[in-house]
Amino acid sequence: MKGLILSGGAGTRLRPLTHTRAKQLVPIANKPVLFYGIEDMAAAGITDIAIVVGDTHQEIQDAVGDGSRFGVSVTYIRQDAPLGLAHCVLIARDFLGDDCFVVYLGDNMLEQGLGEFVEQFDKGRQPNPSLRDDSADGLCRAQILLTPVRNPSSFGVAEVGPDGDVVNLVEKPAEPPSNLALVGVYIFDSAIHEAVAAIEPSARGELEITDAIDWLIRNGHRVSHQMLDGWWIDTGKKDPLLECNRLVLDTVVRRVEGAVDDASKVEGRVVVAEGAKIVNSTVRGPAVIGADARIENAFIGPYTSIGADCVIADAELDHSVVMDGSHITGISRITDSLVGQQVRVSRSPERRQGVRLTLGDHSDLELG
Ligand code: G1P
Repeated sequence: MKGLILSGGAGTRLRPLTHTRAKQLVPIANKPVLFYGIEDMAAAGITDIAIVVGDTHQEIQDAVGDGSRFGVSVTYIRQDAPLGLAHCVLIARDFLGDDCFVVYLGDNMLEQGLGEFVEQFDKGRQPNPSLRDDSADGLCRAQILLTPVRNPSSFGVAEVGPDGDVVNLVEKPAEPPSNLALVGVYIFDSAIHEAVAAIEPSARGELEITDAIDWLIRNGHRVSHQMLDGWWIDTGKKDPLLECNRLVLDTVVRRVEGAVDDASKVEGRVVVAEGAKIVNSTVRGPAVIGADARIENAFIGPYTSIGADCVIADAELDHSVVMDGSHITGISRITDSLVGQQVRVSRSPERRQGVRLTLGDHSDLELG
């Protein structure tokens, strides 16, 4: 079994952060989203992985390297334009050969591991010709992960037959045939290559993986499903990203490697990475403080991630993600916020009224 991680998209919904960085590298509990997907694959025994990359290829390659730090081997496949998930499979043909493979969307995060999903697919590979008359060999050709959602029109939607096989799939239908959305994880065998070559681009100009899987069904192949266990978040927008950060921080194990002075309190599930300094401050978990960060005369409230080399001084902050190298001084109180790298937020020493801003394109500022 091989792995294909799709990390080509532009990340327009996370601007301005994605003007300068790949959305798959936005940190969740101080670790890039993409790393969780790679680790999930490694844990399921998938060690031969290709990552489909677009304009942000250099940054992704610099972060992931050859995969050896995850115990896997990573190949990069360049997609010149975001032409769809099925297009990614099309251009990965040489890498995939005739092997079965898992497809994982690089900005999605799942609570469940991949192990059971892969196991169920392997079981479905045992020939069972009685399952469907028009199926050539009864082999399961694809497996999808489904979950009920309130707004199925925003997703690929599946209809499941009485025997558990998928009987119909539609991408973002105006009138959804069910409330079962396709989660961003799939398994295929080599039959998918014929499907991705046969389908036409959708109305949004993309080759949809949903259409390719539907093509398999229309051509007499079996497609099975598993129901999602636990949470699933597409981290491509601010609020889901903060929610994901919250869910992952809830699982961190307390570890204090940095220096905490006597005047400070570090309460609950908190990681204070090596080289970090907590001075005359309270850090109330769940929270992570990155390497070499300095927290001084400050309150870091629950569900906050502070990146490496940040300085938070004379400030209060909660339910927020602050990325590497940012300085926040003299501000109370920041909440529900996403702060990029190398950002400066401070209070002016002058008494003049007024907020002075230097905001990048597509910034979003909400003053309380
Ligand atoms: C893609 C798929 C869709 C799936 C979704 C899951 O949508 O096309 O079928 O339900 O991912 O995140 P997109 O994010 O490209 O709109």
